[in-house]
Amino acid sequence: MPDHQAFTEFPATSRDELDAALVRATDNWSGVRWRGHRLWQNLLDLNVITEHLLATRPAVIVETGTYCGGSAICYADLMRLAGLAPDVVSIDIDPLATPVHLGVRYLTGRSSTDDAVAKDVAAHVNGRRAFVILDSNHHADHVYHELLLYAPFVAPGDYVLVQDGSLWSTHGLPVDETPIGGILRFLAVSPHFRIDVSKSPFPTTSHVHGWLHHLPASSGILAQSLSAS
Ligand SMILES: C[S@@+](CC[C@H](N)C(=O)[O-])C[C@H]1O[C@@H](n2cnc3c(N)ncnc32)[C@H](O)[C@@H]1O
Repeated sequence: MPDHQAFTEFPATSRDELDAALVRATDNWSGVRWRGHRLWQNLLDLNVITEHLLATRPAVIVETGTYCGGSAICYADLMRLAGLAPDVVSIDIDPLATPVHLGVRYLTGRSSTDDAVAKDVAAHVNGRRAFVILDSNHHADHVYHELLLYAPFVAPGDYVLVQDGSLWSTHGLPVDETPIGGILRFLAVSPHFRIDVSKSPFPTTSHVHGWLHHLPASSGILAQSLSAS
């Protein structure tokens, strides 16, 4: 588990150099497609997400940031591959495309931090096991707000994935302009969530410190925070 203090300096590691080189060489992954539809993902990250979906078998996936819809239909196809009924809700204030897929519901034209949108999502999730992927506006304030709204959909033992922390580590933006700032603020008020670095096994990732584990109810920290409340 990384110490939060470790986030305060820009680490010039070989990992970040490799990530930066790949971002340059792939024109920031601009050629990646799923069934012909553009999706903005590092392919090694996509492999981690795939294995996560197949292993954890969520009932519903909530994605903020549709972009061209390639990621939403990819997640829906993967749910089908896992033998699940595909059910993805994808939210975007201004998507470039919303490819038709029976397992994908697009919520468009409104911000993911609009309370009414979060209420629509809550009604859709309806208490089922959700995997939440945050990939919309990457500014810390926005990500923090999204985490407050959408992390409650994730049951103990399950995960929220905050994408593109690499804007800080690889691209060198100030922490508060990146998801990392939002993650840190969220963790400071959410003792039952922890960064799970085991979900970042490859030497390149866009999702730096982005896998947030809702600790299982049996964990000491959650038991402690429940007894204190
Ligand atoms: C990084 S792209 C999403 C990439 C997509 N998930 C993929 O993997 O291909 C970010 C998207 O977030 C959307 N966006 C930006 N601000 C938003 C907001 N406040 N609410 C919802 N979507 C937003 C943009 O319109 C853009 O399409």
